[in-house]
Amino acid sequence: MKKHVSLMLLLISFSGISQQKSIDQKVNELLAKMTLEEKIGQLNQYTGDHAVTGPLTMNPNKKEEIKAGKIGSMLNVLGANYTRGYQELAMQSRLKIPLLFGLDVVHGYKTTFPLPLAEAASWDLDAIELGARIAARESAASGIHWTFAPMVDISRDPRWGRVMEGAGEDTYLGSKIAYARVKGFQGNKLGDLNSVMACVKHFAAYGAAIGGRDYNSVDVSERALWETYLPPFKSALDAGAATFMNSFNDINGIPATGNKHIQRDILKGKWKFDGFVVSDWGSIGEMINHGYSKDKKEAAYQAITAGSDMDMESNSYRYSLAELVKEGKVSESLIDDAVKRILRKKFEMGLFDDPYRYSDAKRQQKELNNPENTKAAREIAAKSIVLLKNEANTLPLSKATKTIGFIGPMVKLKRANHGFWAIDLKDVDSSYIVSQWEGLERKVGKNTKLLYAKGCGITSPDKSGFKEAVDVANQSDVVILSVGERHDMSGEAKSRSSIGLPGVQEELIKELQKTGKPIVVLINAGRPLVFNWTADNMPTIVYTWWLGSEAGNAISDVLFGDYNPSGKLPMTFPRTEGQIPIYYNHMSTGRPAKNEDDKNYVSAYIDLQNSPKFAFGYGLSYTTFKYSDLKLSKNTMAKNDKLEVSVTITNTGKRLGEEVVQLYLRDKVASIVRPVKELKDFRKIKLSAGESKTIVFTIDDEKLAFYHENLEFKSESGSFDVMVGASSEDIRLKGEFELSE
Ligand code: NOJ
Repeated sequence: MKKHVSLMLLLISFSGISQQKSIDQKVNELLAKMTLEEKIGQLNQYTGDHAVTGPLTMNPNKKEEIKAGKIGSMLNVLGANYTRGYQELAMQSRLKIPLLFGLDVVHGYKTTFPLPLAEAASWDLDAIELGARIAARESAASGIHWTFAPMVDISRDPRWGRVMEGAGEDTYLGSKIAYARVKGFQGNKLGDLNSVMACVKHFAAYGAAIGGRDYNSVDVSERALWETYLPPFKSALDAGAATFMNSFNDINGIPATGNKHIQRDILKGKWKFDGFVVSDWGSIGEMINHGYSKDKKEAAYQAITAGSDMDMESNSYRYSLAELVKEGKVSESLIDDAVKRILRKKFEMGLFDDPYRYSDAKRQQKELNNPENTKAAREIAAKSIVLLKNEANTLPLSKATKTIGFIGPMVKLKRANHGFWAIDLKDVDSSYIVSQWEGLERKVGKNTKLLYAKGCGITSPDKSGFKEAVDVANQSDVVILSVGERHDMSGEAKSRSSIGLPGVQEELIKELQKTGKPIVVLINAGRPLVFNWTADNMPTIVYTWWLGSEAGNAISDVLFGDYNPSGKLPMTFPRTEGQIPIYYNHMSTGRPAKNEDDKNYVSAYIDLQNSPKFAFGYGLSYTTFKYSDLKLSKNTMAKNDKLEVSVTITNTGKRLGEEVVQLYLRDKVASIVRPVKELKDFRKIKLSAGESKTIVFTIDDEKLAFYHENLEFKSESGSFDVMVGASSEDIRLKGEFELSE
């Protein structure tokens, strides 16, 4: 039997090697036939015209250039027939090298899922993977080979508009989600017709943009880079990510696009990444604006030397690389390496066997109309909703409520529910998107009367709609009030210096509060907002983000208790912008405040508390959970050993619910100052009313290790605090152990 198994393993590994070999051989054979110009063509990516996701730098005759083999990849072209048309042009080129079609399939294609930040609030890795899987299935049938996702940038600054696109502030949670998303997009293997290549972005530290202003500089220590910003990239790579995208920012003075340390030394060197790196849109040319390159030729030289393989839309490689090679400044082997990386992926995707295999109108028709996708989107959207307050137990609402007033500028919007980074499928009508109003209509019975008033716009100062809104509220038994920021107020180039509720929306809330009616406030946003008056005065608040095409259904599912909310915040919500950057895992200072009132020469603001408005990891349910029986399997753990932390969770309420149980650790004394706590594990569990479950976390050396001054990643012996809780602030149980040599 044993012999049999080893023989099989041998055969499997042989076939793996020979397959790999044959792709490498094919790549080499093809490379040998290519002229320098054709090679450079493979490194050149142009945008199509289905979407504009950046500033155009030039408008060459793309169709002729494709036929001449001068373009290797297109972004922003989509649709089975449309992509087929472009591929036909590539098939007219001398070597018939297929084009790669890339697109920002960030949180869904036709079926859209919650914004990635919102989805992160589900803490449900299976659901997140499924969301990416469905996005891959739909887009792959529509001719797309490659998504520019996941975005794995850690950010502690909600002013930065792109926080909507990532998994929030925490490196551990972000790394788990990065892994799940890559697995979802790429499926079992590249080349399967329902998979697309992932592109992990933006390498690196883009989320640390100074002042939260998009495209701004980043200044982080090498240790912070390794500790906070790089792990999600590594995790995505471990999940098999095929490609990486670099970033617009400079890191400690060197633009990421021209950053050899980041791309060659870390990614392709230390991490042995064998896929390819695409620049961000125009970022090679933008090194001129950075004052790092004097012209596009120098930018091309710096980028290719640093390890950027493909030039997205800056035309620097297209017009300068050949000259650089001829002048002997860039060796052809450098170009060959980049070309090989790209060709290898084209082979792995099966494009040389059939360049049209992803552009299949029949499959597209089937995949884009699969009711399973809609069902999953509804479930994931419900899981992403965070219940912030339910003080008067107004929620869940009864389906027998006589009159409900649904008020606010978001209520009847349809496409907006897609949120930022949704693909505008121009030929698909928007009727399938469920507005919040439609979701409510479908949920209640015939005996419930629904009233509507817009109240005000999102950003407009006009208050003329207030009266109608107050009238509606006065006629209602319950009011649902939907407010927030416009769906395109967060996203790329959407930084905000004040992150309050825009326009006169908070004034509308105040007016409605005066009616004395029970009011449920829904807040739609792509980032943590500041809404102190509402948070302090309104007893019922639900954070709904932008939830995608099933938003309306999912919101109603939660409002009426068909789904018991289970989301937890993946980012800290500040009290004011003045607290930013604010994050739960800050370092221990030499003068920590004893409490919120302590201002006596301690690290505090004289005009504000230190604590956030809502903490990382926070979120309520319609039921309650008791944490008990924290047990550590031992008091002392040796470095090569493991320790188990068990805890019992009981659903002490009256309905089925889910809880995200969070494990935090603190290294009490170390040779590098350590955070006050760090998330090291979590478990999302489902419990019926009255049910208890014991869960076990395993602590190993990796969970205790950190980057030292010399960047060595290792643990140090000493005492550790163990904290288990329902949020980063709501720690329910504590323990302690020693790590011995
Ligand atoms: C610029 C964005 O930074 C990047 O995330 C995106 O993938 C590209 N544009 C392509 O649209």
